[in-house]
Amino acid sequence: MSDEASPEITPEAVETAVNAALSAIAEASDSAELKAVRAAHAAEGSTLARLNARMRDVPKEKKAEFGKLLGQGRGRVSQALAAREEEIAAAETAARLEAERVDITAVPRRARTGARHPLTLLQEEISDVFVGMGWEIAEGPELEHEWFNFDALNIAPDHPSRQMQDSFYVDPVERHLVMRTHTSPVQMRSMLERDIPIYVLSPGRVYRADEFDATHLPVFSQFEGLVVDRGITMAHLKGTLDHIARVLFGDEAKTRMRANYFPFTEPSAEFDLWHPTFKGGARWIEWGGCGMVNPNVLRAAGIDPEEYSGFAFGMGFERTLMFRSDVKDMRDMAEGDVRFSEQFGMVV
Ligand code: PHE
Repeated sequence: MSDEASPEITPEAVETAVNAALSAIAEASDSAELKAVRAAHAAEGSTLARLNARMRDVPKEKKAEFGKLLGQGRGRVSQALAAREEEIAAAETAARLEAERVDITAVPRRARTGARHPLTLLQEEISDVFVGMGWEIAEGPELEHEWFNFDALNIAPDHPSRQMQDSFYVDPVERHLVMRTHTSPVQMRSMLERDIPIYVLSPGRVYRADEFDATHLPVFSQFEGLVVDRGITMAHLKGTLDHIARVLFGDEAKTRMRANYFPFTEPSAEFDLWHPTFKGGARWIEWGGCGMVNPNVLRAAGIDPEEYSGFAFGMGFERTLMFRSDVKDMRDMAEGDVRFSEQFGMVV
C-alpha cells in the first residue's frame, strides 16, 4: 500500500472515517449488504485501516494520543457492526419463520351441516305410525294422468278443479297429463296394483294453481290413507283419525267429522282436530277430508262393493306442521332457509 494514498492521522480524519462507516452500517439492510460494508469500512484497505498503517510515521510523543483515537474509532465501528449484524440476523430469522409459518390455529374449512326439513321429519314420523299399525307406504307419480287424478275418482268433467286455472296441465294438452292436485290418485293405483286387504298410506307432493302466501303454496304435500277390506265401517275411519291425532298431538287430542261432499267417497266428511293447548286456546281446526270409498270407485278398480268396503282420508303436511309447531307463515316451509329448519333440530 503506498503512503501517498494514505491520509494523515488527524482527529477529523478519524471522525470522518468512523462516521462514514457508522452511517453505512446503519443503512445496510441485510447480511449481504453488511458484509460489503464491513469490507469497505473495517477490513484491510479501508480508510481506517489505512489510517492505522500511518501510525508508524507518527512521532513518538503523539503515538499514545493517536493510538487511542484510532483504537476508539475502530472499536466504535466494530461494535456497530456486531450490533447491526445481530439485528439483521434476528430480522432475517423472523422473516424466514413468518414465511414458513403454518397456522395451526386456523379454523378448518368444513361444509356446514344442514338440517333435515321439518316436513320430511313429519312425513317420516306419520309414516312410522301407520307402518307400526301394519300399513304399507304407497307411491304414485307427481305427473299424473288425468284419468287417475279425476275420472277414476268419480270427478265429473265439469268439476272446477279440472279447469286449467286451478290445475297445472302439461303440454301437449291432448296427452291429458296433469301435475296431481291431490294424493287421491294413489287410491286407484293401489287398488289396481295390490291385493285386498289394502292398508296403505301415501305421502307426497301435490300441485295446485294457488297463490303463494302465508296459508297457501302452489306446491305442497299431503298424506292419503286408504283401507279396503271386508266389513270396514266409518268407525274404523274415526278410530284411525283419532289415533293419528293422539300420536301427533297428545292424548287429549280428538277429531270430529262434518258432513261434506267428495266425488270419490260416500258418505264424505271434513274432519277437524281439537286440542286444549292450541295457540289461541282450545279449539277445532279443520284438518282434512275423508269418507267411505265410493262404490263407483271400487267398481272402477274391479272390486265388488257388495263384498268389500273401504275408507280414505287425506290431509296436508304443511297445515299439520303449521298448527303442530305454530308456524305462522307457510312460505317458510318452501324457502329452504336452514335457519327455519334448525328450529326443529339438526336431525340428519
Ligand atoms: N283429496 C281430497 C283433497 O285433496 C281429500 C280427501 C282424501 C277426501 C280422501 C276424501 C278422501 O281435498
